[in-house]
Amino acid sequence: MSRSAHPAGPRHADVMTEGHYTAPPADLNALDPKVWARTVTRTEDGAVTVGGIEVTRLAEEFGTPAYFLDESDFRARCRAWADAFGPGADVFYAGKAFLSRAVVRWLQEEGLNLDVCSGGELTTALDAGMPAERIAFHGNNKTVAEIERAVKAGVGRIVLDSFQEIARVAHIAQRLGRRQRVQIRVTVGVEAHTHEFIATAHEDQKFGIALAGGQAAEAVRRALTLDGLELIGIHSHIGSQIFDMAGFEVSARRVVQLLAEVRDEHGVELPEIDLGGGLGIAYTSEDDPREPHEIAKALGDIVTRECESAGLATPRISVEPGRAIVGPTAFTLYEVGTIKPLEGLRTYVSVDGGMSDNIRTALYDAEYTVALVSRTSDAEPMLVRVVGKHCESGDIVVKDAFLPSDLAPGDLIAVPATGAYCRSMASNYNHALRPPVVAVRDGRARVIVRRETEEDLLRLDVG
Ligand code: LLP
Repeated sequence: MSRSAHPAGPRHADVMTEGHYTAPPADLNALDPKVWARTVTRTEDGAVTVGGIEVTRLAEEFGTPAYFLDESDFRARCRAWADAFGPGADVFYAGKAFLSRAVVRWLQEEGLNLDVCSGGELTTALDAGMPAERIAFHGNNKTVAEIERAVKAGVGRIVLDSFQEIARVAHIAQRLGRRQRVQIRVTVGVEAHTHEFIATAHEDQKFGIALAGGQAAEAVRRALTLDGLELIGIHSHIGSQIFDMAGFEVSARRVVQLLAEVRDEHGVELPEIDLGGGLGIAYTSEDDPREPHEIAKALGDIVTRECESAGLATPRISVEPGRAIVGPTAFTLYEVGTIKPLEGLRTYVSVDGGMSDNIRTALYDAEYTVALVSRTSDAEPMLVRVVGKHCESGDIVVKDAFLPSDLAPGDLIAVPATGAYCRSMASNYNHALRPPVVAVRDGRARVIVRRETEEDLLRLDVG
């Protein structure tokens, strides 16, 4: 790997334009365990390893860019969620964060259920052998064909998102001679993002049926009268990358209030509530996510308390973490191609991937960190922006971070916490080839989603 020197950019950039950064870390070679998958370490001789394998070896074998997923970390997180919620609750992994057949098998082995939100996710789940009764089917506009497949397969629940869908699923189930277990997704008027939540008037969105104005109560009324449906509960999902439990508390309270209203009106106690996903992870050292057992306790306590005061038996709780399980378990490995110091601003470091393998920075202004992983360096920190190879100035992977000022083309850098919503939202922009996902565990690495090839691109192009 080349180690040639190049003109270093500004070290600390006293000139700061838009963007966010704090001081450079004390030791650029250190890997903060908060943001890296559990088995990622820097050994005494300076090599970075995951699952016991040096990343330089992984790069040689699998190429870059590539996502490397720490399988034992993934499994440990599944178990932590399952243990935290215990046998009286259900954990559904949200497949939209990242889904593949291997993931489905791990979920089964670790005792988790699966939330899917499209025919494609349903196919992957069933193909990998997930029992249909352990699948929840979501989405605000499921097609008739998707609903038919889900009902025929015997999915454990369909989460109904609109009045049309209540009638549609009931009709399809009846036609197929089935009684489909369903939940109704309600909009509780809470919108939560990262450290904040707002508990007013967030019904202005496409998901769910509003509690406000009696809409949700009307949805329950209809669902209870339809023969094709077995209404098992109420569902609420309030947002994603959330740290503040207060939003979940308001949501749980409002869902329990609806259960009490349903009991009063119909004499029926719905047995389940689903509080969705959305728990945040650490993308940078500044984030402090909650542990699954804290989350389970906070949610369990509030539901129990609210049910006691409403005179209801405590329903079975389910949750749907996606990011919190897979997010921290993977990193993206890139090779540095060009380095452009911009006097008085920052140094642009271009890598061999970009917005096609991580759209989150461009789309959500997401924050990531980055580290040099093919060697150690004692050079001064240099403020960098890691950018991709796409024809777009918004093609940013890491907005502001520090890398050693002797960084050179050919160095390998890795961006941690890219397990969720990176491969699953990857694109072929500029005819980029979507990178592989390589699972690493106990000294073994195997491709679970292969790298796309130019033949893959041409195969779709039938004109
Ligand atoms: N349940 C439902 C009904 C959902 O809509 C979602 C995510 C989840 C569970 C899982 O949420 P999680 O635990 O992963 O936060 N692409 C965005 C995130 C979109 C989340 C959509 N729904 C991102 O990259 O931040």
